[in-house]
Amino acid sequence: MDRRGQREKVTNTSVPAAPPPVVALDGVSFNYGAVEALKRITLAVAAGEVLGLCGDNGAGKSTLIKVISGAERPSRGRLLIDGAPANFIGPREALTRGIATIYQNLALAPTLSIAENVFMGAELTRASGVPGLKLLDKRAMRRAAADYLEQLNIDMPAMTTPVAELSGGQRQAVAIARALRWQARVIVMDEPTAALGVKETQRVLDLIRTLAATGRTVLLVSHNMADIVAVTTRVIILHSGAMVLDRPTHGLSADALAHLVMTAGTA
Ligand SMILES: Nc1ncnc2c1ncn2[C@@H]1O[C@H](COP(=O)(O)OP(=O)(O)OP(=O)(O)O)[C@@H](O)[C@H]1O
Ligand SMILES: [Mg+2]
Repeated sequence: MDRRGQREKVTNTSVPAAPPPVVALDGVSFNYGAVEALKRITLAVAAGEVLGLCGDNGAGKSTLIKVISGAERPSRGRLLIDGAPANFIGPREALTRGIATIYQNLALAPTLSIAENVFMGAELTRASGVPGLKLLDKRAMRRAAADYLEQLNIDMPAMTTPVAELSGGQRQAVAIARALRWQARVIVMDEPTAALGVKETQRVLDLIRTLAATGRTVLLVSHNMADIVAVTTRVIILHSGAMVLDRPTHGLSADALAHLVMTAGTA
């Protein structure tokens, strides 16, 4: 074979194309009236990454999450999912594309059971025997909810237990199980440990590790630098809506990260 032939062979077969980032922002800006809450953010998140979003109050973290979760649309720039532009008309559409966002209040109904919370808004039904009439399939929902929670490796009481009786960490798990019910590939969490004690915080960090170990992508907003360095693979820092740092977490201590956040924008 001549040289040219060999080179062609190499370029044709050796390097498989990398999959596109599961979530990417391409020059995204977002304005609340005159306030530029996000300034030309360009970011690509690969499947299986746990990305920490850091920055002081008002830096734009929640706004960034809202754009990714379909709650807001970029004023400029593009959101891409699996490499294709996404124009989500709302969070429900993002959810159907596998992007689930868990806000701090968790949006759980305390008086309803664990299973009912996991399937809220997307209940399983079965035929009733009467044409056109469907019944809630409570047994199937209990079984499936237990399966999702088992995937999360967390101790839970019976699926009929009201959420009001659960600990903070268990409630986070119910909210995550709901995301899994939607086959979420990307799970966005805004300050999941802010209201939790030390032990419960560790449980939630374990939940995040479990999600990553099963190939899900996690975006974690937190003011707790110890949490960020404990579970993330990469961190970004926002300051006044601009991304001022994007680096692997490896080698970064909580103190060093706190210092970077505090001095962001002063360099
Ligand atoms: N609904 C809104 N209307 C007008 N301005 C807003 C609104 N929401 C946020 N902002 C402004 O946008 C900027 C970014 O806010 P954002 O909530 O994204 O920050 P954050 O990083 O999440 O802060 P925190 O750590 O306090 O949650 C801030 O200047 C904030 O005052
Ligand atoms: Mg916020």
